[in-house]
Amino acid sequence: MNLRPDSTSSLVSPRINTHQLAADAPLKLGIMASGSGSNFEAVAQAIADGQLNAQIQVLIYNNPSAKVASKAADRGVEAVLLNHRAYKSRESFDQEIVNTLQEYDVDWLILAGWMRVVTSVLIDAFPQRIINIHPSLLPSFKGIHAVEQALDAGVKITGCTVHLVCLEVDSGPILMQAAVPILPDDTAETLHARIQVQEHRILPQAIALAATRQGEILRGVGV
Ligand code: GRF
Repeated sequence: MNLRPDSTSSLVSPRINTHQLAADAPLKLGIMASGSGSNFEAVAQAIADGQLNAQIQVLIYNNPSAKVASKAADRGVEAVLLNHRAYKSRESFDQEIVNTLQEYDVDWLILAGWMRVVTSVLIDAFPQRIINIHPSLLPSFKGIHAVEQALDAGVKITGCTVHLVCLEVDSGPILMQAAVPILPDDTAETLHARIQVQEHRILPQAIALAATRQGEILRGVGV
C-alpha cells in the first residue's frame, strides 16, 4: 500500500476551477508577510502565468531579515519594511500600514505569513477585503504552531485554510480549504512542506473567489 499521496491530489473545496481566476479588472493587491515568502511567490507566479488577474502593488514586511524581501526584489515588486518594534501600540503600527497601503492604492490585502495580530484599525480600513492563509483546517488549531498542534492532537488529516480576516484570530469566513493527510513518520517540517504545496495552490484561487463573490460577501450572504 502506498501511503505517500500525490502532492497535487489532495481534497480541495470548493474545487479548483480556473474560470474563477479571471476577475474583470486587475485586483490591486497588497501583500503582508514576515517570513520566507513562498506564498508571496505563489501569488506572484499565478499572476505571471496569467492565472490570476491581479497586480501586487506593494509588499509590506516587518522583519528586517525576512527572505520575502528579496523575493519581491526579484519580481520587481516594491517592498516596504515597517518594523513593529518602532511603534508604541498595535494600533499605531496598523495605522502606518493603512497609510502605506493607501499610498500604494491597494484594494485587497493578503496576509501571507504575517505573524502579527491585526487590530480594528486595519480591518476597518479594508472591510471584508483582508485574506489570510493558515496552516490548518480551521476552526481546528488556531494561532501559532498550527502544524505542531495537529501532530500533537494525533489527527490523521490536517491542511490549510484561506479565510477572510475578522478581529478574532483565525476566525473569519472560510473561502477555501485543502486537506493534507498526516503520515506516520511526519515531522512538523515534512508535514508543513506538504501543507505549503496546497497553500500555494489554493491561495491564488481563493483571492479570485473572494473578489468574484465580493457582492455576496458584503451583503452578508457568506462565501
Ligand atoms: C504559511 O504556512 C502560512 O500558512 C502561515 O505562515 C506560513 C508562511 O509561509 N500563516 P511563507 O512565508 O509564505 O513560506
